[in-house]
Amino acid sequence: MLERMLVGKIENRITVGILSFLGIMVLLGWAAINEGGRMQAFTEAEHARSIEQGAALFASQCATCHGEDGRGKAGRAPGLNNPQFFGHDFFPDITSQIATLIAERTTLTAESAAQGTPEERKTEINSRILVIDTQIEDLNAQRTPAVQAAIDAGYNPQSPSRLANLGWAGTHDSFVLTTLIHGRPVSINYWPQAMPAWSQTAGGPMRMDQLEYLVAYIENWDKGEEWTLEDLFAVKQFAIQPADPAPLLFQIQQLQQSGGMLPEQVGTDVAAILTRLPEFTGDAARGDELYHGLASTQFGNRLACTGCHSPEANGVGPMLNGTFTRVQNDRLNDPALAGYTAEQYLVQSIVLPSAYIVPTFNDAMQKNFGELLSYQDMADIIAYLETLNQ
Ligand code: HEC
Ligand code: HEC
Repeated sequence: MLERMLVGKIENRITVGILSFLGIMVLLGWAAINEGGRMQAFTEAEHARSIEQGAALFASQCATCHGEDGRGKAGRAPGLNNPQFFGHDFFPDITSQIATLIAERTTLTAESAAQGTPEERKTEINSRILVIDTQIEDLNAQRTPAVQAAIDAGYNPQSPSRLANLGWAGTHDSFVLTTLIHGRPVSINYWPQAMPAWSQTAGGPMRMDQLEYLVAYIENWDKGEEWTLEDLFAVKQFAIQPADPAPLLFQIQQLQQSGGMLPEQVGTDVAAILTRLPEFTGDAARGDELYHGLASTQFGNRLACTGCHSPEANGVGPMLNGTFTRVQNDRLNDPALAGYTAEQYLVQSIVLPSAYIVPTFNDAMQKNFGELLSYQDMADIIAYLETLNQ
């Protein structure tokens, strides 16, 4: 009897032990399963906070140009809370029919141009191409009336994706972030005020975390498949494709090739420039084009050096021909420039023109070339000026 009771107690204890062990396991398991959920809730809260911070920054820094609601301001800046900015196509069927027709026309044109295509077949192709063109025109016309109000604000239903129009191959948020970092210096050519640079690394006022909040806020406008025509009509200003898109496309291409970073500006610290310059190989031919405004700088600007330096006669500035000979024979012998190298003098003349005024000239040279030139631009211009040695 006593023995049985004892056994029973031990059995009880074992049962209790096993039960509590199982209980702990269940608790641990539950906690482990829920960890994912808590992590997700935490990430979501983080994301919500980023969006909130971004909203505050947008209201204080961006709304003056892009509108309180991000839908743009007429004649000032394009809408970002905008189906076209996120690439939404309201007429995907029409777009794909047109794409099919264009593909057919391309094949036919190639066949017609190929050697040995009989005249008869060429005639047949030509009449088919006429039909295709009319069909494309009809399809294009079908979507026009539905979005006329937006067309009046600058929308082009034939190019429903802003990023595709610019040839941006990266992600949408990287496009926004790089635009914020560097601004769009070239947009001064087609907007009253250019999009400024915001990153401290590009001379702007914001830290990277603040730029990321702004990106989170802007990306949160994307409605994916849910964009409506009302959203489209609410946009007050669409992006402008400039008449000469070359500088803009050049700048965008630069950003892509460099993973979103534009090259550094040389600035106005002559000693610092001279230290870094040997890392770059100057290309005199490109320097020639830059000097004459025939090529864009790495920041997309055309320079107007020739506005003041004409080839063969002094004007506002000394004549271009013989620049390097004059530097070596005249300038470097001026006691005011004792110890200067030719390169040092040239760099200083370009970024700090007031530091030494060429005798008989005025302090009339533009002072902002340090902002307009990258190191590569500078190396190329110096290489070009060094060829002017007759
Ligand atoms: C002085 C007016 C001005 C201010 C302030 C301004 N922007 Fe812009 N922004 C522009 C203009 C103009 C463009 C169009 C540039 C172009 O077409 O290349 C633009 C373009 C953009 C683009 C790219 C849109 C596109 O379709 O290419 C983004 C993104 C953007 N701005 C975000 C911002 C944010 C975020 C802020 C605030 C931190 C801001 N902008 C402040 C004028 C401004
Ligand atoms: C607004 C007129 C103006 C523009 C634009 C201009 N310059 Fe000048 N530049 C001058 C004047 C004036 C001088 C002479 C006074 C001085 O030394 O600053 C000068 C002097 C120079 C010198 C020294 C020449 C010498 O004989 O010693 C160089 C080099 C030079 N400029 C290069 C450039 C380059 C490169 C550009 C374009 C990126 C440019 N300048 C654009 C007006 C201009």
